[in-house]
Amino acid sequence: MIWSLVHTKGGVAKTTTAMFLAAAAARRGISTRVLDADPQGSATSWAERAASLDMSLPFTVTPATADDLRGLTSTPDELIVIDTPPGTATAIDAAIDAADLVIIPTGPRSADIDRVWPTLDITAHRPTTILLTLVDLRKVEATEIPLALADAEAPILRTVVRARTAVERAFGRGIPRYLGDYADVFEELTAAMVPEEVVAQ
Ligand SMILES: Nc1ncnc2c1ncn2[C@@H]1O[C@H](COP(=O)(O)OP(=O)(O)OP(=O)(O)O)[C@@H](O)[C@H]1O
Ligand SMILES: [Mg+2]
Repeated sequence: MIWSLVHTKGGVAKTTTAMFLAAAAARRGISTRVLDADPQGSATSWAERAASLDMSLPFTVTPATADDLRGLTSTPDELIVIDTPPGTATAIDAAIDAADLVIIPTGPRSADIDRVWPTLDITAHRPTTILLTLVDLRKVEATEIPLALADAEAPILRTVVRARTAVERAFGRGIPRYLGDYADVFEELTAAMVPEEVVAQ
């Protein structure tokens, strides 16, 4: 199985989501690796920094180019999670093409959602799901935006990821024991691998 984290907009928790979902899978005993297709190398430096603190991650993180991703396949019992750069890049297209599932993490504000539609256009040929993250449950957007997206027949996950200091602080360290909302996201994603439920229209 190959999951690609994609968004044309930056700073929407792609790397964080890749690392936490990989941790959730590894803790389920699934052989998991992260491919870092972002030249910024955030996932790679996260893993290196964690290792230097003796907090090694339960999965490997390897840099990957667009060429590495072309023709990438996985075995049925492994999960490959691909982190991609923001914007447009050949690595993004290659990650989308290789993916069994494209995950678009996005913030919950209307301005964030506006930026999701162009991304959905470029992933339209692959099963795609939108993950709402950095959510503040005290704000009305936390409920209104998922409903609006569902009304627009956008393929949105029911589970949302709340903004949490423990998640923010995880960068460059081990993944916390408590995965919080990401454990639920992982469950929903694996339960939802029935293609009809996750395919973008
Ligand atoms: N659930 C969360 N709660 C709090 N902070 C979060 C959460 N998810 C991500 N962040 C923070 O948001 C910022 C952006 O996240 P991240 O680096 O994962 O985004 P990105 O999409 O990979 O960005 P880029 O496009 O620049 O690579 C980081 O500071 C990260 O720690
Ligand atoms: Mg990143």
